[in-house]
Amino acid sequence: MFEEIKVVAIDGPAGSGKSTVSKLVAEKLGFTYIDTGAMYRALTLKVMKKNISFSEEEKIIEAAREMDLKLLPSVANANSICVILDGEDVSGEIRKMEITGNVKYVAKIAKVRESMVKFQRRMIKGLGGAVMEGRDIGTVVLPDAKYKFYLDASFDERVQRRFMELRARAASATREDVADDLKQRDHTDKTRAVGPLKKAENAILVDTTDLSINEVIEKIVGMINDDQ
Ligand code: CDP
Repeated sequence: MFEEIKVVAIDGPAGSGKSTVSKLVAEKLGFTYIDTGAMYRALTLKVMKKNISFSEEEKIIEAAREMDLKLLPSVANANSICVILDGEDVSGEIRKMEITGNVKYVAKIAKVRESMVKFQRRMIKGLGGAVMEGRDIGTVVLPDAKYKFYLDASFDERVQRRFMELRARAASATREDVADDLKQRDHTDKTRAVGPLKKAENAILVDTTDLSINEVIEKIVGMINDDQ
């Protein structure tokens, strides 16, 4: 289906190194980086801003359909993307813990995921190459992707990474808060009926527990280059 476009699908749980690695792999290959988590986060923010209750599924589905979302390379930070929701830059707001904790309510709705998947497939049309990261990319969004990776790491290592990341952003979360959030999200992500977090059968598993970011990138880029 998408074999004419070079796509790299990268899935995995929070703290597996997925976002950092995906951005840098895209940069090395000269491909466009697409962060699908940012899309679910932006919808969660929209729902909260519109005071829609998370139990009002029809209204959430409507919000997903009418949402005007753009993911642009960030001018301020080359290593990041800028998320524009209905004309407003929400790049910082969507990373707040409050959003992180509520994404599960929108991400479990089948029709929301349908809209997101359509949007994500449309996004890669016309691109020379793309690195798309998320939870269901290798399994649902781009099942025909030529390159599929599933990144994982031990629970303790993932908590440590996320904790350091939040500290760098001066967020007030404790290590216990981070561990609770990851445990909850692992559970909801893996047990969701539609688009659960799962390694695609033909994805390459990369355990990043004892690897540096550079080692993971070299592994992934090396495999792709060897294949060309
Ligand atoms: O960076 P982190 O792993 O913390 O989260 P993210 O990739 O920004 O994704 C936030 C949440 O969105 C995840 O916990 C998933 O529940 C959801 N998500 C999803 O359902 N499907 C995707 N393709 C990407 C994210």
